[in-house]
Amino acid sequence: MLETRERVFFDEVDMTTKQETVAELSKMPRTAVLPVVRDPSTGYLNAAPYSAGVMSVEPYHIIFGVKSWDTKLVFQEVEEFVVAVPTRNQLDHIWTMACAVPHGISEIEIAGWTELPSRMVQPPGISECPINLECRKVRTLALGRALRTIVIGEVVGVDVDRGLLRMDRADACRLLPMHEAIQKHPYTNTYALSVLSGEVRNGWAPRSSDPEEAGTDGERLFVSHRERKSPKGSAAYLCSTFPMPTYIVTFLGQDGVWHGVPISGGLIMHTKPAVQIPLLKGSAVYECIKARGEFVISIPVRAELGYLEQLFDAPSTRLEDLGLVAAPSGSIKTPGIAQFPVNIECTVYLLEDIPGQNYALLLGKKVGLNVDQATFQNCDHETLYSQYPYAVYDWGWVRKWAFHDPQLLPVKPLPTWGSRYNGGWWGGPEQWQTGMQFWLLELLMSNYLHEDEYHKIKRWVSWWRSEGYWAPEGLRGELRERLTSLLRMMVWAHRDFEKWQEIHQWLARFPYEGRWGC
Ligand SMILES: Cc1cc2nc3c(=O)[nH]c(=O)nc-3n(C[C@H](O)[C@H](O)[C@H](O)COP(=O)(O)O)c2cc1C
Repeated sequence: MLETRERVFFDEVDMTTKQETVAELSKMPRTAVLPVVRDPSTGYLNAAPYSAGVMSVEPYHIIFGVKSWDTKLVFQEVEEFVVAVPTRNQLDHIWTMACAVPHGISEIEIAGWTELPSRMVQPPGISECPINLECRKVRTLALGRALRTIVIGEVVGVDVDRGLLRMDRADACRLLPMHEAIQKHPYTNTYALSVLSGEVRNGWAPRSSDPEEAGTDGERLFVSHRERKSPKGSAAYLCSTFPMPTYIVTFLGQDGVWHGVPISGGLIMHTKPAVQIPLLKGSAVYECIKARGEFVISIPVRAELGYLEQLFDAPSTRLEDLGLVAAPSGSIKTPGIAQFPVNIECTVYLLEDIPGQNYALLLGKKVGLNVDQATFQNCDHETLYSQYPYAVYDWGWVRKWAFHDPQLLPVKPLPTWGSRYNGGWWGGPEQWQTGMQFWLLELLMSNYLHEDEYHKIKRWVSWWRSEGYWAPEGLRGELRERLTSLLRMMVWAHRDFEKWQEIHQWLARFPYEGRWGC
């Protein structure tokens, strides 16, 4: 029998106004991916890190949310995109691709990476990433200007580095994928990334080799969704399926008592809409939550794993039959679970049937948080997050469990890149102009740029904005190439200060006024 816990309660206001720890407690780290999409109106590629989750494994559906308004529009218009999955060794590239560059400048080029031609869809993937998921759009949900637009894609083809197929799953989990874990990283003032420890429950084979050495070997395998049941196809699909956060959803059943079902997948995050959960259409949990408009997410921890597993096969979902004790909520009637340390109280924001699929998307609004007192007082995020269970599939599609390694949660200190004054050049997605202005000023004041170079760069950027799209192809190509080279050099010079000299030399090759005047 599991033990119950003493709790502290935070309401919706506390969750947004109290120290960040409170809001951070109510999320589960999620996979960071690099979706690549082509703007149909200009033909330009866009790629940036986003946090993604799994909505369905068969068919394989992934979900992510986009906040910058121009990228939202692109995803609403297109039918296809590619989701490249980076490794923990590509942290610097992920950061450079998060930079808010002027529209039309490719983040793939800024990162110094190359495009990987796709087989089933038009946009390319990224050659340097070991997994590229070719996707057809299933649904976009535009939730209003202030909220993210949700994108669901069906994976129609998987391009995977064969090196991954040769690793055991524990090694692959340690290498892949990156997780967006903590919102405010002390060095970057923004996202901190993490990886799974590869410590896996349920008799996973011991580590056969060092994941760094096993690495990736550059040979690629492509498998379309039609081949996914073949041995080769199933291995490729298995390797590319993200670890899925697992939790219990409690609700009032049709019989008038409390029930709980385990769910793997979706996104439980900090930014609105914070809760994105797949529910089987027509299931009891779907019908009851639809009728009542509220539910609670209870997150179990590592010590309760044996218990959690039993829930997947339990003949009843009544809390009482499951040996679970209902913990009263502070803001809604539905209780959480007294034995689990974190209970997130939610009201339904939207429950939308996904056409042609067997699941619906449940969006929840967090209205309260009940946390185990001891966890709240003694536990930091690294420790708590390292306790959260993630379902992963091992060979034969057997479900097993992976955890975050507390040592790897903030993977490594990063130099800020972008201005420290506004929290990074890419601090706001729509504000690249302001952000870039801060960044340039800071460089100027730190003597990394001379004044004439500063003006030259500013002029190029404004040329690009005012004439870029109208200029004839030759001129447009040249402008674009110059800005791309310059931004690429500057972004990487932040990691290697010796490189600033090269930038001065490069800039000196161009006359101050430029060819086009202003
Ligand atoms: C690890 C990580 C995860 C991120 N997750 C998201 C996300 O889920 N949604 C989002 O809109 N931005 C996310 N961002 C921020 C975007 O990458 C960033 O704002 C980028 O400039 C957006 O580019 P875009 O304007 O081309 O869309 C994330 C950044 C990092 C580093």
